[in-house]
Amino acid sequence: MHAPSGAARPHRDFLNIADFTPAETFALLDLAERMRAGTYDARPLAGKALAMLFMKSSTRTRMSFEVGAIQLGGTAHFLSPRDVQIGRGEPIADTARVLSRYVQGIMIRTFAHDDVVQLAEHASVPVINGLTDLSHPCQVLADVLTVQQHLGDIRRATVAWIGDGNNMANSWIEAAAHLGFALRVACPEGYDPNAEFLAAAAARGADVRLLRDPREAVEAADVVTTDVWASMGQEEEQARRAMAFALYQVDADLMARAQRHAIFLHCLPAHRGEEVTADVIDGSQSVVWDEAENRLHIQKAIMATLMGNVPL
Ligand code: CP
Ligand code: NVA
Repeated sequence: MHAPSGAARPHRDFLNIADFTPAETFALLDLAERMRAGTYDARPLAGKALAMLFMKSSTRTRMSFEVGAIQLGGTAHFLSPRDVQIGRGEPIADTARVLSRYVQGIMIRTFAHDDVVQLAEHASVPVINGLTDLSHPCQVLADVLTVQQHLGDIRRATVAWIGDGNNMANSWIEAAAHLGFALRVACPEGYDPNAEFLAAAAARGADVRLLRDPREAVEAADVVTTDVWASMGQEEEQARRAMAFALYQVDADLMARAQRHAIFLHCLPAHRGEEVTADVIDGSQSVVWDEAENRLHIQKAIMATLMGNVPL
């Protein structure tokens, strides 16, 4: 028996962290934790399909959504621009309408965030943001799950973001404001996070501080995290960025300035010797493999909720 097509069904999307209320987000984290612990064996996606539109490369996002959908009883279908008509100019709105007649959820990774908003506007099934130039909400929820796995309640944590004010930084800012934890962001001038995300956090009275000195940012930090200096689509800026970020490498000296129990996170892929040294990412404080695993659990929780109607 197949699930009914998505046409004209009420649905909700996950384009940014604030699309779930704070209470729902904590419930989602609890559901993901049950999945991580192996105590969840329901199959709320039985007979349902996820379309996965990838306009950029991926290892973790693709595999975790695909395996996650299958573990929940559903199927997942990988679509790249080389294969689908979007790559030849078919409008996103038309793609949204058509995919909604086949599948019960659409995950998309692309460049312009507005494309995802447009997809969601025209889809009649849930749309999940698998990374845009603006944000990476699935990853940051996986990171929050990882912090809670190792350190307990995120609301007691201070997180230090070091380096580029990119999509990951923006989602960390949103998470800090939404869930109520302290965030210190250290970026070089000219590479600040999105001004609207910063303003929204400030308007909510969030404990988010934008700094220039990475050493100041990691003081009292329970979590130190960073990301590549040139994100996907910025490859030609690599040399200029390597100079701009030279003082923003997470090395053993910087880690030593954080709390003794501090953990190191990186969404991966990582460039050892650039944003992080090998001794840190491969060292005892690094939990990056748990973090990568947690993509699977949090995204299963998101799919179960949005596509499988599992209540939070
Ligand atoms: N962290 C992350 O999103 O990895 P991929 O680019 O491999 O999906
Ligand atoms: N900021 C990086 C994250 C990759 C998962 C990028 O957008 O390329």
